[in-house]
Amino acid sequence: MQARDLQTDGKGRLKHFLCIEGLPRALLLDILDAAESFAGVGERAVKKVPLMRGKTIANLFFEASTRTRTTFELAAKRLSADVLNLNIQASSTSKGESLLDTLRTLEAMHCDMFVVRHGMSGAAHLIASHVADEVRVINAGDGRHEHPTQALLDCFTIRRATGAWAERGSSSLVIAIVGDVLHSRVARSDIHAFNTLGVGELRVVGPKTLLPNAVETLGVHVFHDPEAGLCDADVIIMLRLQNERMQGALLPSALEYFKTYGLTPARLLRAKPDVVVMHPGPINRGVEIDSAVADGSQSLILEQVRYGIAVRMAVMSMAMGSLPRTRPPRSMRDD
Ligand code: NCD
Repeated sequence: MQARDLQTDGKGRLKHFLCIEGLPRALLLDILDAAESFAGVGERAVKKVPLMRGKTIANLFFEASTRTRTTFELAAKRLSADVLNLNIQASSTSKGESLLDTLRTLEAMHCDMFVVRHGMSGAAHLIASHVADEVRVINAGDGRHEHPTQALLDCFTIRRATGAWAERGSSSLVIAIVGDVLHSRVARSDIHAFNTLGVGELRVVGPKTLLPNAVETLGVHVFHDPEAGLCDADVIIMLRLQNERMQGALLPSALEYFKTYGLTPARLLRAKPDVVVMHPGPINRGVEIDSAVADGSQSLILEQVRYGIAVRMAVMSMAMGSLPRTRPPRSMRDD
């Protein structure tokens, strides 16, 4: 079964969370609405709600991560779940055990949910097609394929900053995604999410060597000239050069890249005066972004990290079916 079909149950409710591609718009908005209700939990004296009390969540990170792993962990703890962090480098996988055998072992311990990051595209999907019916799987980034919770937190950040996608409306925002789109699972998930929600114009900006072939078929406008690509943008999303995924020399040098594509205060002036700047992190100062912009008043980079917790609380509690409802979600309404 395809990932998009596996992630909802017969009634269209979230079961696993594997990809943004194919996720219905109403369900995407439901998750953003749920995240809104969790956004205040971190500001309370007691930063906990009891929605996932008694549930066990295993964080399976086969690839290094700081922000994503810690915000998933915090989100689980704020939902009162018990959390298991698996240091995969030091676990049985490095002794030759297969991914599915590791999974069976954890299932025998009655884990209710797996949060999976893996270098192989499709890893979370593979796991979701093998787990018991009551177990849930969340994709925390699979190879170059998707990073769906990052896209959600990007949408949430943009919605909070600009008021976009209120109720059923689309948005006239011009969003520019700049840099190494070719190796970026974040860019792929973002593109699907923004096109599903509706934007004025979606652009990808970068050198030919860092944009996927036929990227325009994903519904984006392609720019190789950064000055043109940033012109009148409302939102700029900068991407890291993912050197660990590059084969061969795709760029002359980091310095040369910064000169042409780096987001400097001067280049930022090309965009709308109230443009907001985002980056999924980790950021490389002086490579894709100037410190003055990363730390400047238009940067939402730290808001993205903070909102990541609320968004992940929403995804986990919805997939587990533990979210109480006072009114039917948008995905079940016809208004
Ligand atoms: C991204 C990732 O791992 O895909 N980072 C993240 O999740 N915060 C982007 C990146 O590594 O550049």
